[in-house]
Amino acid sequence: MIVFLIPRAWLTGLSIITNGNDMNKKIIIANWKMNLSPQEHLVMAETIKKGVVVSDNREVVLCPSFTSLSAVGEVLKRSSVQLGAQDAFWDEVGAYTGEESPKTLRELGCRYVIIGHSERRNFLGETDQMINKKLKAVLASGLRPVLCVGETLEERQAKKTDLVIFNQLTKDLFGIHLLDNEQVVIAYEPIWAIGTGQTVMPDQAEQVFRVIRQNTIDLWPKLMANNNVRIIYGGSANENNYNNFIKLEHCAGFLVGTASLKAENFLAICNGVN
Ligand code: PGA
Repeated sequence: MIVFLIPRAWLTGLSIITNGNDMNKKIIIANWKMNLSPQEHLVMAETIKKGVVVSDNREVVLCPSFTSLSAVGEVLKRSSVQLGAQDAFWDEVGAYTGEESPKTLRELGCRYVIIGHSERRNFLGETDQMINKKLKAVLASGLRPVLCVGETLEERQAKKTDLVIFNQLTKDLFGIHLLDNEQVVIAYEPIWAIGTGQTVMPDQAEQVFRVIRQNTIDLWPKLMANNNVRIIYGGSANENNYNNFIKLEHCAGFLVGTASLKAENFLAICNGVN
């Protein structure tokens, strides 16, 4: 609980001091989901740590399972690769069986936390209200949320994509007053593109990126929306197609699932975005 008594600006201010301004950097995030054994986590983390070309222009983040966070965090210590979590709960401590608190994730060395992934929305019934509470808790702990939004195929075919994204963002970000030194990443992930090998067309992605940017400008002061929010693409992003997206005006990077499970493929994206 004590963390809520510490002004958020202090916590996030510390991050800024230790990490500089990352807003101008591209960001590539590996979402390993529930795919790797403890041993495989270590091998992947070691290989990626060794293979990433250190760059001032982009960040690389690995999101292991909760059970491998500590071990992967140890591997990544003093490297340029950062640690992220795949989820976080909305309270700091308490009787919440199976959950993990943002405070603990921060203590384990996490900087980023994926929130509202469509797999959690679909399989676990995570609602926009829950996501909103999680986002607030993550920011209060000095972590950077990676909020996932995206439409189903039916919604795209019915030309409802912009509306779906608007509704998700409005509910997920409700009542969040971003501070100057806080950062949010918003991942546009069309649900039908996740794990399917299909991607949205780059110009369609750019259209959604613009909708997201406009939404953040409507919610927060324009300067803050532009300076504190990065928008990235997810959904079958891989070593063969990342170039089609990264050149888009609003694309600041990728959330990568399948292609992050082979170190050489993930490294090809990371080192290509430089
Ligand atoms: P994918 O997953 O790259 O396998 O489509 C992305 C994600 O779910 O974040």
